Amino acid sequence: MEVKGRIALVTGAATGIGKSYAEELLNQGAKGVAICDINGEEGEKLYHTLASRHSKDRVLFCQCDVTDYLQFEDTFKTVIATFGHIDIVVNNAGIMNDRFWELEVDINLNGVIRGTLLAQRFMGIDKGGRGGVVLNTASNVGFNPYVSCPIYSATKAAIVSLTRAFGDQYHVGLTGVKIMAICPGATKSNLVRDVGKQLLYPRYEDAWRRDTASSTYQTPEHVAKSLVQILANGKSGSVWLVESGQPPKEITFSKH
Ligand SMILES: NC(=O)c1ccc[n+]([C@@H]2O[C@H](COP(=O)([O-])OP(=O)(O)OC[C@H]3O[C@@H](n4cnc5c(N)ncnc54)[C@H](O)[C@@H]3O)[C@@H](O)[C@H]2O)c1
Repeated sequence: MEVKGRIALVTGAATGIGKSYAEELLNQGAKGVAICDINGEEGEKLYHTLASRHSKDRVLFCQCDVTDYLQFEDTFKTVIATFGHIDIVVNNAGIMNDRFWELEVDINLNGVIRGTLLAQRFMGIDKGGRGGVVLNTASNVGFNPYVSCPIYSATKAAIVSLTRAFGDQYHVGLTGVKIMAICPGATKSNLVRDVGKQLLYPRYEDAWRRDTASSTYQTPEHVAKSLVQILANGKSGSVWLVESGQPPKEITFSKH
């Protein structure tokens, strides 16, 4: 799907990769972008920056916690009331904190499930919608788990499976909603601020150093440009690695 003229809803869009998604979607001519984030202060700040750069008619900020189904549902309703419909949903909100693993699962995995189900409900042709595309944010650790963060890795692996199953032509035929996953490798952001407090036990830090020893940090802007390429060329159910500033590479899976 080409971005020009489309309406997009991006979760976790106040900072980091999601912020770059919102900026890039507007740069590529999106008609409307809804910045959805739990962080009201950063979300409002970004709203004002983007509204003055692009026009306030093309940007919306919705304070939204993806762990709260009713708030998330209201966000879809507000975006549709503002822009008329939604074409693209980017489920991007996430944390890395295995110490608060129940919250981590609720944001990273359940949040993406909620966002996917809401997209099917509000965009599905079977529900009176126009169809569209969902882009779920997994990670390179979704298929190459980090020993140092097993639970974070598990949430990302589950997103890959969710996307491959819901992205199948069976579901696309029913709903008209295509689903793909983007798997960024190490990217400069606030996701990892104090790793010692984000691993299940501080003693896992040596494993973290081994897991990340060969990481080359890319910019969030590169991930955002890759998102646009994936939206334009990716087939439903496909899973894309974006790592080390390289172009997106489709991951293939064999049946066993
Ligand atoms: N940075 C990396 O190296 C990297 C690599 C692979 C995947 N990812 C994934 O990319 C996504 C974005 O992460 P980032 O690196 O930009 O980190 P980030 O911390 O800069 O951004 C995450 C955003 O999600 C928001 N958020 C957190 N909890 C939320 C909730 N309950 N409801 C709504 N919004 C919430 C935060 O306020 C923040 O704006 C995450 O899913 C992350 O797992 C990041």
